[in-house]
Amino acid sequence: MTIAISPQSNLTLDKSETISFTGIRKLVEAESKAVDQLILRELSSDVVLINQIGRYIVNSGGKRLRPALLLLVAKALSYVGQQHITLAAVIEFIHTATLLHDDVVDESSLRRGRHTVNTVWGNAASVLVGDYLYSRSFEMMVSVRNVRVMEILAATTTAIAEGEVLQLLNRNNPTTTEQRYLEVISRKTAILFSAASQLGAVLARAPHETEQALSQFGLHLGMAFQLIDDALDYKADPEKLGKNLGDDLAEGKPTLPLIYALGQSDERQATLLRAAIESGNRDAFRDVYAIVESTNAIAYTERRAREEAHRAYESLEQVPSSVYKEALTTLALFSVERNH
Ligand code: IPE
Ligand code: IPE
Ligand code: MG
Ligand code: MG
Repeated sequence: MTIAISPQSNLTLDKSETISFTGIRKLVEAESKAVDQLILRELSSDVVLINQIGRYIVNSGGKRLRPALLLLVAKALSYVGQQHITLAAVIEFIHTATLLHDDVVDESSLRRGRHTVNTVWGNAASVLVGDYLYSRSFEMMVSVRNVRVMEILAATTTAIAEGEVLQLLNRNNPTTTEQRYLEVISRKTAILFSAASQLGAVLARAPHETEQALSQFGLHLGMAFQLIDDALDYKADPEKLGKNLGDDLAEGKPTLPLIYALGQSDERQATLLRAAIESGNRDAFRDVYAIVESTNAIAYTERRAREEAHRAYESLEQVPSSVYKEALTTLALFSVERNH
């Protein structure tokens, strides 16, 4: 196979080996519809505000990447049954719950091109509906009656919370290392991708090594995804991104673009960067961005993301060839090529 993702070069695609992103959507179209219907059904509560906020965030056009990942892995490993629909919805509920909490912590005002829930209804509502989604997701996962599934998801939500708390500890700290940063993004983001991918394999009763390989696939894909998210926070087109640029800086969040720029900058630049991280100051965005650019910190972050995507691709080795496997490769590519 002529791949596709090389850490050294720009991404090049041999179109015969991958399918388009729209192609992926088509491939799991029926299942994705079923997931969306289940999500809407499970959202419903006789507490009106839960319905209102739940529908607002769920219908606002998230990419639904994690459910797609779970569905594709299940199909790549020839799973027959309906539990992949339930678990895909569970994963999206957990993801959405983390976003409701994250936007409060990050004081973000834009998500998926709309005002955030915390902006419209306030912090308390955002946190409490996030809690509701978490609890609902646990109710749904129990219905699958598979202890292994529950073990994986329970460990995953613990790790996400740890990641967010670790990140809080790094806030406003310019001495945060690349290593600490990688630890944070592994837990807060990559582990959920890993769980989505692993659960597809668990449902398909894949051999232990295959299950582990898919867990690794999801982990590396998730690392690539968050590395690019952190690059996009500096350089995206906000219209396409559906989020504001500079949220990370405003919060004093030392992500890889800043950590790398600090290591490469001269004394004057380093003083400015350190002050911006310590104060969490959006006003410094232009100056900080200029330093990030001049030190090639975005290019470095993207290179690290490509390496992760490459590792993700390598983890698929034991998965038999199929259109679903090609789609998984496309997802790894998308995670680094995306602009939203
Ligand atoms: C946003 O995830 C949170 C991160 C882990 C960066 P997505 O970019 O997948 O969010 P939606 O669901 O598509 O809005
Ligand atoms: C990802 O981190 C958040 C979670 C995994 C909960 P970010 O804070 O970078 O995500 P965005 O940029 O707000 O989507
Ligand atoms: Mg955030
Ligand atoms: Mg972000």
